This record gives sequence, C-alpha cells and structure tokens, in this order.
Amino acid sequence: MWRPSERIRYAPAPGRWPTAAQAAASHLFSPVTVGPITLRARTWVPAMVPWRARADGLVSPEILSWYQRFAQGRPGALVVEATGIRDVPSGPLLRIGDDHFVPGLRDLVSAVREASGGETRLFIQLIDFLSIRRRPDPQRYLAEFLQLTDRHRAACPLPGADEAQVRGWLAGLDAEALATVLTPREREALEFGARERVTDLEAAHIRELPQALPELFARAAGRAQEAGFDGVELHFAHAYTMASFLSRTNTRADGYGGSLEGRLRLPLEVYRAVRAAVGAQFVVGCRYLAEECIPGGSDAQDAAAAGAAFARAGLDFLSLSRGGKFDDARQPKVGEAAYPYTGRSGYECMPSYYSDARGPFGRNLEATARVRAAVRATGCTTPVVAAGGLHGFGQAEQVLRDGIADIAGFARQALADPDWFRKVLSGRGAEVRLCLYTNYCEALDQRHRQVTCELWDREGLDEPGVALSSDGKRRLLPPAWD
Ligand SMILES: Cc1cc2nc3c(=O)[nH]c(=O)nc-3n(C[C@H](O)[C@H](O)[C@H](O)COP(=O)(O)O)c2cc1C
Ligand code: SF4
Repeated sequence: MWRPSERIRYAPAPGRWPTAAQAAASHLFSPVTVGPITLRARTWVPAMVPWRARADGLVSPEILSWYQRFAQGRPGALVVEATGIRDVPSGPLLRIGDDHFVPGLRDLVSAVREASGGETRLFIQLIDFLSIRRRPDPQRYLAEFLQLTDRHRAACPLPGADEAQVRGWLAGLDAEALATVLTPREREALEFGARERVTDLEAAHIRELPQALPELFARAAGRAQEAGFDGVELHFAHAYTMASFLSRTNTRADGYGGSLEGRLRLPLEVYRAVRAAVGAQFVVGCRYLAEECIPGGSDAQDAAAAGAAFARAGLDFLSLSRGGKFDDARQPKVGEAAYPYTGRSGYECMPSYYSDARGPFGRNLEATARVRAAVRATGCTTPVVAAGGLHGFGQAEQVLRDGIADIAGFARQALADPDWFRKVLSGRGAEVRLCLYTNYCEALDQRHRQVTCELWDREGLDEPGVALSSDGKRRLLPPAWD
C-alpha cells in the first residue's frame, strides 16, 4: 500500500472512556432519525467485504456468523458489504441480482435481529462495477488479446505483413518502442490489465448504462426490502460505476457527464427509480466520496453540491468516504488485477498508522463538515455519516457536537472489536481492543482472502468449536466478550 513519505508513526489515542452514566447521557448514544426510522444510537458500522459469501454469491453460514458477531456489539446501524446488483459470477462476493438470493438474505436479516435483540438497524450496500482484467503476460497480450488495428499495421516496417507477422514484430519491440506504437489504453491493458470506464461510449453496454442501471438498482432494492432489511445504501463511492459517473473525470457528452448537473443525473435517476420501487417507508441512502483525492478528481466543493442535491431529492442519509480509486492504483503483478486501494487515494480511504502530519484519524472530517453544512443550507435535516480513523469515544462525540456529522462510523475499529459499542455504553471502554490501523485486514481483502484482524485471529485457536479460515491458521471471528 502507498504510504506518505513522512512515515510519522501514530498510535490509537482514544482519550478518556466515559462512565456508564456519561455514555448514557452522550450525543453518541442518543437516537437519530434516518428517514422513516430511528436508530437507537448514532453509531454505525460501514460496509466491509469479508470474502465469506458462497462462490455463487449466496449467503453462507460464515456470512451469517460474521454479521451476527457484529450485531452482538449492538451498533445503531450495520451496513452489509457491497453486494452486486447483477446476476453475474463475481466470486465469493454477496449478490442480490436475482430473486433466488432473497431467502439467504432473509436469514441474514433474522440473524442480525436476533443477535442484537432487535436494537441494530440493518442496511445493505448495493453496488455495480465495470469489468477489470488481470494484468496479462506481455507475450500473450501481444499474441492474443491485443486487437490489431491499422495503427499497428501502419507502424510495422515489414512489407505486406500478415497478422501473425505484425504480432511477432510487436513482441520483438523493447518497451520504449512498443510505447510509441500502442495507444494509452492499450498500454494500460498491457501494463495493468484492461479496465472499462464509464466514458467508453463506443461500447453499447457502457453507452446504455443510464438506461440499464436505474432498473437494476430498483430491483435489487426491492429484493432487499423483501428480505426484511431496514434500507439500502446505494454505493456511489470509490472505484465503481456510480462513483465514476459522479466524478469530475466523467467527460461523457450524452448528458450524463461533464457539468455537475450531468454527472449527478444518473445517480439521481437511480435514486428515483429505487424510491419508486420501495416507497417512502424504506430507508434509501447513499455512500459517496467527500473527496476523490486524485488529480483532476472531484473535491469537497463538488461533494457539497452533490450532497445538497441528494438531500433535496429525498435520500435518507449520506455516508461520506474518501478516495479509493483505480486511477492511481499500483501496478499489479502479472496474473493479478489492479486494486483501488494501493495508491495515494487508497491511503486516503483507509489510512494506516504510518502517516503524514495530518495523521490517520479523521482525515475526512473537514470535507464531511462541508457536505453537512451544504445539506443544512438547503433546509434538509438529512443525517450525514462520518468515517475514517474513528476509534475513541471523545473523538466521536466531538464529531457530533461540532456539527461535522450526525452519525459516527467505525469500520476497522468495529472489526478489531465489534463489542466497542456495548463496552463503551456500559462504562467498560477500558476493555476495548483498539484498532492499530495496520491494515493487515485490508491486505487480506486485497488478496481476496477471508478478512480477519491480527489482534484476535490467533487467539484460542484450539478452543472447542472455533471456526477457522480456509488455510486453518486463523480464527474467523473475534472471541466472545462477557
Ligand atoms: C476489509 C475492508 C473491506 C471494506 N469493504 C468496503 C465495502 O464493501 N464498501 C465500502 O463502501 N467500503 C468498504 N471499506 C471501507 C470502510 O467502509 C471504511 O470506509 C474505511 O475502512 C475507513 O474507515 P475506518 O477508518 O473506520 O476503517 C472496507 C474496508 C475494509 C478494511
Ligand atoms: S487488522 Fe485489526 S488492528 Fe489492523 S487495521 Fe485491521 S482491524 Fe485494525
């Protein structure tokens, strides 16, 4: 993962923990209205992919126990991982692109309700993503995958060369010469793996995304409602399709790009289609970026304008993230796909304990505050969720009291200790297992391995009945508390 050159080392600094009476009187543990429902507390576990779904995208027993374990900590809300809205194979990632996914998701809802005593509200994050290929072996790329064009043929000095000869000539070029013959996209396909973009209007399925996506999202949301979730979180963040429509880098000239209005058009059309499918009594919110953190990308001003538009349109919550783009991702090894959390923008999304003067705690708060202020300026009271390095009670309380956000999101801290919420509320904050922000969990995610936390995954491996990872070396769930 990319790291700031300063390499200043930070340790979690939770400050003083409250007594039970102080916690009960706090803002953090007070209720908040989210559209048609109320959360018991302003605590939130953002979406985290644990790589535990069945290979066919169905809910597995490991998924049930994973979310059950988070629910035992009783956060105000829990968001189920990014779940694909299309019925296309995508490995052990949850899917909701067909009715046959509903029964498993219903079991997931029941498991969370039961484990939290009905206290935790449950949302599911709905995602669409475009295709990305693994970085190819260069010789195979030139021999098979590259679509030969007149540009390649014209550059080839062999008179009357047939396809095989042109390919053979390309394969013999050194990197510098090859770079002058291939287009930038062909070079990207060779050096990183081919990646589709929302601006690839020459491809019909990309051109027609604005016609296809509202219905796909609406149907997926309808299934989430049928399965019993409290609501959906539309994934408009990071490296995926909807974030790319929102991005300043979206230059589509068909009315779905360019100006802010054009970039907002599809996200708003998706929202309206979803709302029409699920009605007013079902929560529909979105997660998007307070800053993209890439050259030429959207900034906090864009996010503030988008927030105002989303709030006016009627979204029930806005959850703000940061960065996490393909644009600056590190070059993958041959045979692997690029991963959007390996560059600077990836660092901004999940900052680790080696950081710069700003540090890893609350890097997104300034931009989040701007979004909330813009939302409030419209007269809307839409709650805003903050995340990024939150781990202490005082820190979260201050985020709420200072009007930066209405709800505090704890992703990695909840992974390190899902009982954070119960421990703090009962005056036992000193027992919290604090996240060290090492990003060991994120590295597992990158390698598509079952996500665990290094603070607990080697503990009590010989306990009777403990569930182990597929390599048999790690426990899959944190030990029980109390
Ligand atoms: C293992 C892992 C998986 C993640 N998966 C998702 C995801 O599915 N959707 C999403 O919006 N964010 C995802 N994130 C990002 C987190 O939701 C969160 O924004 C980020 O970790 C920063 O918050 P934190 O400092 O509280 O961890 C993931 C993070 C981790 C560590
Ligand atoms: S592995 Fe554990 S301690 Fe390290 S960042 Fe992830 S949750 Fe935090």
